[in-house]
Amino acid sequence: MSHPEPAPAPAGLRRLAFGGDYNPEQWPEEVWHEDARLMREAGVTMVSVGIFSWALLEPDPGRYDFGWLDRLLDLLHVNGVRADLGTPTVVPPAWFYRAHPEALPVGKDGVRYAFGARGAICHSSTAYREAAAGITEQLARRYANHPALAMWHVHNEYGVPVSACYCDSCAAHFRRWLTARHGSADAVNEAWGTAFWGQRYRSLDEIEPPRTAPTVGNPAQQLDYARFADATMRENFTAERDILHRLSPGIPVTTNFMTALSQCESVDYWAWGREVDLVTNDHYLITDGRRTHVNLAMAADLTRSVAGGAPWLLLEHSTSGVNWQPRNPAKRPGEMARNSLAHIARGSEGAMFFQWRQSRRGAEKFHSAMVPHAGTDSRVWREVSALGADLGLLEGVRGTRTVADVAMLWDWQSWWAQSLDWRPSEDHDARERADTFYASLYDHHLTVDFAHPDADLSAYPLVVVPALYLATEETGRNLRRYVERGGTLVVSYFSGIVDADDAVHPGPYPGALRDVLGLTVEEFSPLLAGGTVRLTTPEGAPQGPGLTGDVWSDVIVPRGAETCWSYADGVPAGRPAITRNRLGEGTAWYISTRLSGPDLDAVLDRALADARIAPRTSLARDVEAVRRTGESGSYLFLINHTGTAAEVPLETPGTELLTGERAGKECTVPAGAVRVVRLDG
Ligand code: GLA
Ligand code: ZN
Repeated sequence: MSHPEPAPAPAGLRRLAFGGDYNPEQWPEEVWHEDARLMREAGVTMVSVGIFSWALLEPDPGRYDFGWLDRLLDLLHVNGVRADLGTPTVVPPAWFYRAHPEALPVGKDGVRYAFGARGAICHSSTAYREAAAGITEQLARRYANHPALAMWHVHNEYGVPVSACYCDSCAAHFRRWLTARHGSADAVNEAWGTAFWGQRYRSLDEIEPPRTAPTVGNPAQQLDYARFADATMRENFTAERDILHRLSPGIPVTTNFMTALSQCESVDYWAWGREVDLVTNDHYLITDGRRTHVNLAMAADLTRSVAGGAPWLLLEHSTSGVNWQPRNPAKRPGEMARNSLAHIARGSEGAMFFQWRQSRRGAEKFHSAMVPHAGTDSRVWREVSALGADLGLLEGVRGTRTVADVAMLWDWQSWWAQSLDWRPSEDHDARERADTFYASLYDHHLTVDFAHPDADLSAYPLVVVPALYLATEETGRNLRRYVERGGTLVVSYFSGIVDADDAVHPGPYPGALRDVLGLTVEEFSPLLAGGTVRLTTPEGAPQGPGLTGDVWSDVIVPRGAETCWSYADGVPAGRPAITRNRLGEGTAWYISTRLSGPDLDAVLDRALADARIAPRTSLARDVEAVRRTGESGSYLFLINHTGTAAEVPLETPGTELLTGERAGKECTVPAGAVRVVRLDG
């Protein structure tokens, strides 16, 4: 599908962004001049500055030192580099904590964290809120009209390293939040099901955060606390943003997300995406042996979706290895450019890095940078400069939008709910299902938009629902409407089970999705560790390959749905395993066990046929074809993650922008390379 309105380029970016986090306070000023020269040499257009600079900017309470930042911004400006200027509110100075120790956050176990790292913040602390507003206001007043200012970078990665604080101020704040959400103690008792285990509250004053308890805490209380913690961080973000909007009008305000990292699961980015002027994202390859480029594509698609399809910006990734994973391999030659261009293909308006110059001291001195410890006579530097030059050839893609083929539903709140304790199987992992379904769509060469379960899905021929445990009645109606009007839906097990309060929908499972799927589930029957179930196609049904599932099985009663595969063994032997329900103009598939790889592909092939999506057989595995389109034209990004050259047939001829060569009936993409064809017409 294509997004209708033409995309305005984010006001602050006048070119594709290329640069990184720049922390000159770690270096003597003569190095800054060397930095500026190298930035020009590499084609850097923007750097993020001041993110961790509070202690330098306000060395004593109420005494400010802006001299160094004035000189730095002036230096950037004369060198044609623009600034993504941070509000340094992720690390208040040591003196602040001396005066306000209560602003340090408290863990679930009641232990208060210490100063000495970063991100030690109780977001309910009045002292913190006042101090953050104060420094933000000072910066906005001083730099609103600085010619180098491109955009504002509020805070850093809300949600990590502390996702929630359990202190007494947060307890009081939580009670106020509960009053706004539920109204009264009786309503909370009802929503949380406190009749179970005798947890009834007479008044909201008796309610505490879900701190460490003897056994499993109330699940609905935990879910509400996750919502509260997310909303509290968002309050602090919007408070800073509003100051910046007031004092620095016209300059976009962002905060860097980490959309697809499971470490950052505590942030509901659907809500955050609506609050920022430009969605920005940080993405680091998880080098655990999985296909990292698939996770990268997923992160980029999710970020674009959080931005409502509009252009967004990759604000951080790495030139080579990171230093916070168990093992941190260097990137292979060409990999950094491929990563960068893969983000741009999926909607990023540039490629930025953490960080410009590799630190000599501190926790991240072994994290790669644009200027590595090895200096400029190094592969990393040569690749950085080459990428800067390449981006200069791609200016046309700015403001265009990535074209998606299908949608996948994703909801952080559902993820929070199904990650709570005492579920039918600890082997079920919602994030794993999303990753696996995404990988299958990726292997079908389909570009994926992510959608909130209540979003309008009518533009997509296929919608995939990997694991949507929490699904409201409204979501059920939305999916039913989508199918009735001709959509093809694919739903995996343990979806549609509870409402927004984690209460099981009345009647048999899957409450919210019974109608659309045309079945009920009498019982779940998760498998023992390592167990598998075999699936076969029943007599009379279209024949298909035998499949193997693991982790889960359901005891299904069809109520209108046809059985496409049934269980050959296990508790539900002889009963339906994979079903297809024709409803109105469309079709809804249900997969009641965990399928992966070719087994999942085989079922998705059938669903894709229902959705009339033709297989893209001309592309080899791990060769991506992604299109961005807009007023300036249509750009086909061909990304070859394999070790052999790929010949990609073109429907429309065009000009390859990185080589300047004409591309006629096909385009050759060398091993590990990227080609960007501006299609004629
Ligand atoms: C995060 C942070 C950066 C840096 C990088 C690399 O994304 O925002 O400050 O720590 O990770 O580790
Ligand atoms: Zn707190």
